[in-house]
Amino acid sequence: MTEILILYYSHSGHVKEMAEYIARGVETVENCISKIRTVPRVSTVCEATESDIPSEGYLYATHDDLRQCSALILGSPTRFGNMAAPLKFFLDGSSDIWLSGTLIGKPAAAFTSTGSLHGGQESTLLSMMLPLFHHGMIVMGLPYEDDLLMNTTEGGTPYGASHLAGSNNERPISDTERQLCINLGKRVAETALSLNT
Ligand SMILES: Cc1cc2nc3c(=O)[nH]c(=O)nc-3n(C[C@H](O)[C@H](O)[C@H](O)COP(=O)(O)O)c2cc1C
Repeated sequence: MTEILILYYSHSGHVKEMAEYIARGVETVENCISKIRTVPRVSTVCEATESDIPSEGYLYATHDDLRQCSALILGSPTRFGNMAAPLKFFLDGSSDIWLSGTLIGKPAAAFTSTGSLHGGQESTLLSMMLPLFHHGMIVMGLPYEDDLLMNTTEGGTPYGASHLAGSNNERPISDTERQLCINLGKRVAETALSLNT
């Protein structure tokens, strides 16, 4: 089976929900399975404050998850136009994966959620792509192949899937945003399958 790792951080749950729709897209592709993993929170007093196993939700990602995957899809809420620190912290610890070249040639993509419409969806998606390039991955976005991307008035970008959460995180994931998450998962899975990564 071709395994697609969906690795995300989420504080209020929107990016987590997007990860699940992306997984749904992955699973529409025959012989592909999704694996969803998250990362722990960080703080200025983060050393050994959390258990290795979260009390609820998805397991924390390990470097073995990165080694085993055929493709990687990263998700994070926007934090000042950038990816959130917990995901960056995990990626900053991935030098052994970089040194061994494990991810070279594998497809990758990104997804995000913002509070405001012009609050940095594209810049956050691009910020997640930078380490993916350094890992030698084949970074992918979403094509303008149907009307969804061209006509969206909420989330959805050619740089990856996105969601407009609203200033109080009050907006649910819309039909358009959901479909673009599914499309992204499907597209990455099909690419991994065709590349036989
Ligand atoms: C410290 C902090 C910084 C944020 N920076 C931005 C920002 O630059 N632009 C924006 O639109 N939203 C920003 N937000 C809002 C979050 O991106 C938004 O709530 C996100 O959709 C939550 O995703 P989640 O439900 O997966 O945690 C920020 C939130 C916090 C707590």
